[in-house]
Amino acid sequence: MYKSNLTVESIGNALRSSLLNGLIREDDTLVMFHDLSFLQERIHHLSSVFPSHTLHAVAMKANPLKRILEFIRLLGAGAEVASLAELKMALKAGYPAKKIVFDSPVKTWQELEFALTTGVHINIDSLAELERVAALKQRIVSGSTIGIRINPQVGVGTIAESSVAGEYSKFGVPVTTKRKELGDAFLTYPWLTGVHLHVGSQGCSMELLLSGIGVLYSFVSEMNEKRTATGHEPISIFDIGGGLPVSYMGDQIPVSMEDYAHAIRNEFPELFTIHYSLLTEFGRWVHVNAGWTVSRVEYVKRDSGINTAMIHAGADLFLRECLNPKSWQHEYSVFDKTGNLKYGKDRNPYNLAGPLCFSGDILARNVVLPMIEEGDYLVIHDTGGYTLSMWSRYNSRQTPRIIGYHGNEFEILKERESFEELAPFWG
Ligand code: LLP
Repeated sequence: MYKSNLTVESIGNALRSSLLNGLIREDDTLVMFHDLSFLQERIHHLSSVFPSHTLHAVAMKANPLKRILEFIRLLGAGAEVASLAELKMALKAGYPAKKIVFDSPVKTWQELEFALTTGVHINIDSLAELERVAALKQRIVSGSTIGIRINPQVGVGTIAESSVAGEYSKFGVPVTTKRKELGDAFLTYPWLTGVHLHVGSQGCSMELLLSGIGVLYSFVSEMNEKRTATGHEPISIFDIGGGLPVSYMGDQIPVSMEDYAHAIRNEFPELFTIHYSLLTEFGRWVHVNAGWTVSRVEYVKRDSGINTAMIHAGADLFLRECLNPKSWQHEYSVFDKTGNLKYGKDRNPYNLAGPLCFSGDILARNVVLPMIEEGDYLVIHDTGGYTLSMWSRYNSRQTPRIIGYHGNEFEILKERESFEELAPFWG
């Protein structure tokens, strides 16, 4: 049975060891950690609950660190990529083309040509893109398998900005309004053997995710009857996307991956047979709970109304949390200079303010925490995904040192960005 979140004790142990071993230096005002054993368990668990022939193309947008990409590749994972650069990074990290799923929503002619030549799996996003691929396939011999992203139009979850299966979505081809065109496409192009859906990220219930799969499953069953009647091979690549939510707060009960996989098998048993090549694209579920971030508290402003802890991460690392705090929250813990957890009765509400120059750069407001003092360490839990990958260059802050660990063994996954590395960004 896998753990849903890292315990504060295990985080405290890693923090103290890092302090003792000099891994958090004076200028490491912010450090990100990844528990690699936890990450490994996630990948193993994923592989154990789906059929063994499933390709788990982990969404690179959640965490594109090269060392992490290499680590999960060695555990058997594939990579879902959303841009040409992500595709090239997957190749650089050693992923074979057959384990790469190319999902960018705006693929240029050149990008499609590169993808077809490399032989990665391509999920087409629109009918216009389908015509480009058809044209390119006239002159390129390609090993790529090809699917099309279909919006199942099953509705939005609790977070509008990361829900993509409403009546309208900028992604994919809508299943209802473009039913005829989709049907024609599958009968015109024998090589179009895959379907792809993604309902949303966080905020989508298991029932919503399942209903999306259901819509596509019926569509595929109907299409396959027609395809076999005309002598085409059936649609056999079924990409269910990602989107299983994780728990960020102690009172959120996480949806279990095992329950999700069982529900898919119960409702659509054929998907779990060898007639289908099943693909998944989980990102958040794989990465978020495996990571945490620690910031030194630089100052504490004490006021009659509210105290403000000034820390070294704000909207640069936590864009959603600062701009849409109702939907995105974390648990926090306070440790003293030597890495001992602070408890204490002296608990007060704090604003956790970042270092950027705008008033909305506040990671969280009114969080009740033990007494915070200058030089303490504030830990932000569950930061293993959609944090550094969404880094903002505003105010030119340097990206933090990133440390991975297995028990008591630590390795630097990425060094803190130096000024010399940062400055050329601006030309
Ligand atoms: N597949 C596709 C096509 C996607 O667009 C995504 C996420 C995934 C898979 C992975 O979804 P996951 O399993 O990680 O939920 N914090 C970000 C979330 C954007 C997610 C975008 N797509 C944000 O607030 O923008």
